[in-house]
Amino acid sequence: MGRVSGKVALVTGAASGLGRATAKRLAAEGAQVMIADINETRLAEARDEIAQPGGQAMLHVLDVTSEEAWERAVAETVAAFGKLDILVNCAGVLSIADIESETFEKWSWQHRVNLDGVFLGMKHGFKAMRQGGTGGSIINFSSVLGILSLSNIAAYSSAKGGVRAITKSAALHGGPLGIRVNSIHPGHVRTEMVIDGVSAADYPDEVWQKLAEQYPIGRVGEPGDIADAVLFLASDESSFVTGLEMVVDGGYSIQ
Ligand SMILES: NC(=O)c1ccc[n+]([C@@H]2O[C@H](COP(=O)([O-])OP(=O)(O)OC[C@H]3O[C@@H](n4cnc5c(N)ncnc54)[C@H](O)[C@@H]3O)[C@@H](O)[C@H]2O)c1
Repeated sequence: MGRVSGKVALVTGAASGLGRATAKRLAAEGAQVMIADINETRLAEARDEIAQPGGQAMLHVLDVTSEEAWERAVAETVAAFGKLDILVNCAGVLSIADIESETFEKWSWQHRVNLDGVFLGMKHGFKAMRQGGTGGSIINFSSVLGILSLSNIAAYSSAKGGVRAITKSAALHGGPLGIRVNSIHPGHVRTEMVIDGVSAADYPDEVWQKLAEQYPIGRVGEPGDIADAVLFLASDESSFVTGLEMVVDGGYSIQ
């Protein structure tokens, strides 16, 4: 019996990195998973990876910035699996720029994907969970950079701070409905979002080393570290946990 057996999950950003690792973990623990992302090719790879060890997953191409697309994604999940119990809003984008160099275009893009996408997901996820009548669990991806910040991460930090705040409003609204809403705040994790930036540096190995040194635990995160935390929030093991900022950062932010 898996830790989320019998539950149905919709995971965005599931073509890559943390979304893919989370979808795999939920499926391995018995959930039926609708994996959603804008990247169709990599989504198909992720579906095959989940199906290999016998996990149950279907894919849906979703642009999280479109309300119509969200309506279709949630409806297809319910049509395929009968209900929605778990929603993981993981899709995200990042640009490295300070307040003077950030363009309005990239500012808006990061807010559309990272914050509007979470709002739309929750709006339509709530509807399906209410209809199911047995509550649910929503996990929104923020970041440690939604709590603290760096000078060169202006727009991303703003959008992730918004996710931190809207999660609490949604948790208050969802409490009486049996719908729990929590945010997760990873530190640096070895996914393409970080690997792409580090690989572009002149001495990537030194950059990885310097990053690891900033972490009391002595390393940056791996996708499985975050997927394990999401699994806890998704499962009934966390049935008294809502509105939590779950920081998963090897101690980075307590210094
Ligand atoms: N990797 C880290 O160090 C780290 C740290 C803190 C928070 N996060 C957050 O975790 C989440 C996952 O990041 P990751 O590291 O796996 O990055 P990633 O780049 O590997 O994956 C992000 C995924 O989001 C998808 N995506 C982008 N725009 C989309 C859209 N409009 N609609 C649907 N899907 C879209 C991409 O196609 C990609 O598959 C993000 O919200 C990110 O901000 C990551």
